[in-house]
Amino acid sequence: MNNRSDTSPTLVRLSEYRAPAWRVSQVELTFDLGIDTTEVTSRLHLQRDPAQDAPLRLDGEGLELLSIALDGEPLAGDAWRYADNVLEVDGARDGSVLETRVCLRPAANTALEGLYLSGPRERGFLLTQCEAEGFRHITFFPDRPDVLASYTVTLCADRDRFPVLLAGGNPDGQGELEGGRHWARFVDPHPKPSYLFALVAGRLQKIERDYATGGGRAVKLVIWAEPDAIGQCGYAMDALERSMRWDEEAYGREYDLDVFHVVATHDFNMGAMENKGLNIFNAKYLLADPDSSTDDEYRAVEAVVAHEYFHNWSGNRVTCRDWFQLSLKEGLTVFREQQFSADMNSAALKRIEDVALLRRAQFPEDAGPLAHPVRPAQYSEINNFYTATVYEKGSELVRMVAGRLGRDGFRRGMDRYFARNDGQAATLEDFLGALGEANGIDLMPYLAWYAQAGTPRLSARGLYDAAHRTYTLTLSQHTPPTPHQPHKQPLPIPVKLALFDRAGQIMPLHLTDDSAETSGATERVVVLDRAEQAFVFQQITEAPVPSLLRGFSAPVILECAYEPADLALLLRHDPDGFNRWEAGQQLAARAYDNLREGNETSALDAWCDALEALFNDGAMDPALLADLLTPPGEIELAERERQVDPSHVHALRQQLQEHLALRIGQSTLQHRYESLAAHASLQLDASNQARRRLKRRVLELLSRIDPWTAHAQATLQYDNAPSMTDRLAALAVLVRGNASQAHAALAHFRERYADNPLAMDKWFSVQTQLPGELVLDRVRALEADEAFTLKNPNRVNSLFGAWARNNPDGFHRPDGSGYQLLAERLKQLDALNPQVAARMATAFNGWQRLEPGRRALARSAIESVAAHAALSRNLNEIVQSMLH
Ligand code: ARG
Ligand code: ZN
Repeated sequence: MNNRSDTSPTLVRLSEYRAPAWRVSQVELTFDLGIDTTEVTSRLHLQRDPAQDAPLRLDGEGLELLSIALDGEPLAGDAWRYADNVLEVDGARDGSVLETRVCLRPAANTALEGLYLSGPRERGFLLTQCEAEGFRHITFFPDRPDVLASYTVTLCADRDRFPVLLAGGNPDGQGELEGGRHWARFVDPHPKPSYLFALVAGRLQKIERDYATGGGRAVKLVIWAEPDAIGQCGYAMDALERSMRWDEEAYGREYDLDVFHVVATHDFNMGAMENKGLNIFNAKYLLADPDSSTDDEYRAVEAVVAHEYFHNWSGNRVTCRDWFQLSLKEGLTVFREQQFSADMNSAALKRIEDVALLRRAQFPEDAGPLAHPVRPAQYSEINNFYTATVYEKGSELVRMVAGRLGRDGFRRGMDRYFARNDGQAATLEDFLGALGEANGIDLMPYLAWYAQAGTPRLSARGLYDAAHRTYTLTLSQHTPPTPHQPHKQPLPIPVKLALFDRAGQIMPLHLTDDSAETSGATERVVVLDRAEQAFVFQQITEAPVPSLLRGFSAPVILECAYEPADLALLLRHDPDGFNRWEAGQQLAARAYDNLREGNETSALDAWCDALEALFNDGAMDPALLADLLTPPGEIELAERERQVDPSHVHALRQQLQEHLALRIGQSTLQHRYESLAAHASLQLDASNQARRRLKRRVLELLSRIDPWTAHAQATLQYDNAPSMTDRLAALAVLVRGNASQAHAALAHFRERYADNPLAMDKWFSVQTQLPGELVLDRVRALEADEAFTLKNPNRVNSLFGAWARNNPDGFHRPDGSGYQLLAERLKQLDALNPQVAARMATAFNGWQRLEPGRRALARSAIESVAAHAALSRNLNEIVQSMLH
């Protein structure tokens, strides 16, 4: 590896951004492809910034330089220097052409960055991953997103071994070469940064579809996969077509090349990649069929296909000036993807899913040693900043701004943003500036959100004045300190709210100073933009129950001294599914506090009573009901503790579910399960998905109070399941309950899916959900399984990731054995794949708030990683931040 750091790593700082001294207008690349060695010839047409006189410096990592020439003349050895991943060349002028030839070793590339081999060498294929800085592993280049060039790419390879040759852009000829070889050329007319370059070569099969854009461009959509997987690409093709249509309708954005290629690989560090005209996907987010994919996975495929497609405008046509602006494309594209998914499915369920993810993944990040702003101020390794903060919180920031502008205003602003920045590398200021100007609104106060880490606490106090019939809502905010940011400033926080009377009816709102047009609406947004502010509502006839932060209108933690009965009222009566869920989550969290403190049960009773009533309300949507019946997860509940004992959190959450199951009653649950199980189906439509979701939840609740019956039913469900959704749900109940039947089911699953890597990933991950005291031995046994390898990121995540992140009680063993195992594997993994190792290491996040015993053990495990020789820059940055 080439980024091993023995000295202290250099930090890249936003404040030190400088425009490039040298640009490249045009790139001509020729690849002579081979599995063991590939030769890359590059011709760069250089442009010099006349205002700067820096020498020509190009990035290049691990490149074996074979030849170098400037303007057609081979360069003498003293006219260039290649050291510390920089090639410096003397004598270049504006308009010069630099030609280099380098040798790469794809089969030896286990980091899966740059050019690498996916699959076994006999039948695997070659592909590239360049974001963020992979292009410098392919050729010498100013590898930064503000250098946009047009690309002409020629691929040459043996025809039998590499029948399919693909690169981004439009096809521009192909032909035969001597010795059974062939070539293909691609020209991308749209200037792009190097991180969007891609190629793919190998034995792949395709499915195709013709698409006509609204503006009349004929586009060939092609999805490529290995022969055994091509049959699972149909759903992704449908999702792609829906995405393209949606972006035309919702944003007026059309596709801009003649072909759009999508490729699936089992060897990928991340989810997927939006390379111009040649998207590459982790197979997990592209392949789907009912026998091996769950309903959740289908929705994830649809969302990720849309996400990568939407990048064609939010990311590719308008890209980022530097990597500090990463959320400019990622936060915006996540937001667009969330809107799309809400339109395709249920908006309320989608919002629930997204807010649950934010709380599970982003809030803990923002509260721990790795906290960073959505626009970080500095980094050592940019790949460590593809985080929940940049993606999910970044999306929430776009959502706040979009809410501020309203539907039409946001569209107007986005049109302005795309028009003004098309073909350019932009900043978050460009984004907020265009949106604001198109609407005559100053959005720059929202920049503070991008610069400040940490989750704001929003407190609300209500005061009803019966004599004046006014209700005064006082809002205040406070953001706790985060690493490097001890002092926080107030942020603009839009609070969407409604008031309910005691009968559960929503009230008309009249704010002091209201205009006639807004007065009387039942839902309003007030913006808190200082430390504290009061809002007075008029003509209020009784003390109301406030419903605050509706739709999760800002990514904050709400602190409001609700009476349990008030939350129960909202849970039962709010017409909006999301707000109802939100009230239920808050009530469940208070019920959890009741169990922990053990002196008082009013929240627990209110939560159970309300859910019992909803369970028996025939009009409830089964999917929403399933979500209402799910209390906050252990990671979220742990955030309520001063000193976390994950085993105790787990036990309390189990008790919470037992109380709920007992309140609803064994026979009621049983009855509902049977009626849902009677109609098991393979169909993917919303109502069948909803019934499967509720069935799983009911079976889980049953297993809390009557494991014997539940395990018998789970076994039946496993044996007869028409779909993976039902099969995996049943298996999970057996494994979590350590049922005697689990053994046979697991053996059967393994046998049945031995040749299906994505299903095998599920076989590994479901077993990481064994009860806490049992799981470590299983993890050790599983890593000795012949199907396990540290070289495949999906497999690593499905074993170590699922264990360390989704089974806190099983990872945080009181004797520290879990920490030691993970630390050892991190060291091994880092030698193979630094990106995956660094991401896995974030499972230690939150260690500082563990109870003292575990805290000391976790610290020494992290220290042992930090002390390991030759850590990658990636893993080094994570463990150093964790410890300081
Ligand atoms: N831009 C991709 C996406 O969000 C993520 C690729 C990140 N890859 C990486 N190695 N950091 O769609
Ligand atoms: Zn993205």
